[in-house]
Amino acid sequence: MNTVARGPEFMVARAEGVWLWDASGDRYLDGTASLWYCNVGHGRTEIADAVHRQISTLDAYTVYGDFSNGPAVELSERLAAHAPVADPRVILTSGGGEAIETAAKLARRYWAVTGQPGRTHLISRTGGYHGLHGFGTSISGMDRFRHGYGRVVEDTSVVPHDSAAALEAEILRVGPERVAAYFAEPVIGSGGVYPPREDYFTEVARICRKYGVLFVVDSVICGFARLGNWFGIERFGVSPDMVVFAKGVSSGYLPLGGIVVGGRVADPFYNGEGNAFMHGTTYAGHPTACAAAMANLDILEREDLFTVSLEVERHLDVALQGLASHPLVAEVRSGVGVMGAVELTEEALSGRGITTAEVFAEARARGVIVRAIPTSLLVSPPLVITWEQIDHLVSTLSAALDAVAARH
Ligand SMILES: Cc1ncc(COP(=O)(O)O)c(C=O)c1O
Repeated sequence: MNTVARGPEFMVARAEGVWLWDASGDRYLDGTASLWYCNVGHGRTEIADAVHRQISTLDAYTVYGDFSNGPAVELSERLAAHAPVADPRVILTSGGGEAIETAAKLARRYWAVTGQPGRTHLISRTGGYHGLHGFGTSISGMDRFRHGYGRVVEDTSVVPHDSAAALEAEILRVGPERVAAYFAEPVIGSGGVYPPREDYFTEVARICRKYGVLFVVDSVICGFARLGNWFGIERFGVSPDMVVFAKGVSSGYLPLGGIVVGGRVADPFYNGEGNAFMHGTTYAGHPTACAAAMANLDILEREDLFTVSLEVERHLDVALQGLASHPLVAEVRSGVGVMGAVELTEEALSGRGITTAEVFAEARARGVIVRAIPTSLLVSPPLVITWEQIDHLVSTLSAALDAVAARH
């Protein structure tokens, strides 16, 4: 609100591939795939055609009770076939935050129906972002999203993102008989691009197993080829109890999210009399959104963006690391997934009063969109970006840093 109060809005008029055009016809490189979601790039007519076909056949219909539809079933089966989860089932939602609510409530409900109703506590990580609905707000690893709303969801806590020992200590502090689930992104995204330490996920998976805690992976950013595979977490060789997805599942052409639930968690609800999970949303299983996702997944598979993205990841890593020696830069985090963070030095931020918003604005004025968080500039381009476009992105970011440095 404060941003638009200060000046005119930046009107996005059109997009094609990795490019955007504003309302005056100026062109920009989309260095962030919008908000981390446009994995296949903009303007894919194949997705538009699939949407047109579906909306003309069955626009939308509820999947309440035993109602269902072809695209919802096909998409669920396709996702289940690739999910690193044992005996998978799929619940569809309209986005990531809604999917997090579903996973969090399902985790608590699972314990309630299996005779351990005391297990309500949810543990998440510093820097973790899980959307901004009720549970997502409470398990946010960033204080600026969590505070100022009174008491939201209780029985949650946050542990340092890079320490499996800290997770175990927190489980013991709370009492394993009270802990329902642990939530983690494969690579922390919005919080600043933090890949896990080697063995982190093997360790936390072992700790969750040891204490019976459900292991929930939030792959909303990391899924659908951004880490070179379907759900991101495969890269670290562990199998969670639930995986939350959104964004790249449809590349954002239509809003869609959901969770893949392992049989251990799902079975009591199918098999137990009276074990209802009284939860769901109006647009769950929306056939047109699911048709958009199916066409998007066709592109990911046909163009083998799972393999391509690993090459993009390498090139982006090399290019971004070139910024590490810039006088304003403290650290560059890249090399796991098509994403990176350029963190500014304390001296630049506090000493010279430089803001990442200024660097963002300079880059945009030069025709490149990056994302500013308080200490870093983040990039997460569409997976179809070329080497030349990566070099353009990074050299423009470098020029923006120079321009801001010269002003201060
Ligand atoms: C890791 C992660 N989880 C959940 C969400 C929430 O998704 P949505 O904004 O669709 O509610 C986001 C959104 O950025 C995210 O990055």
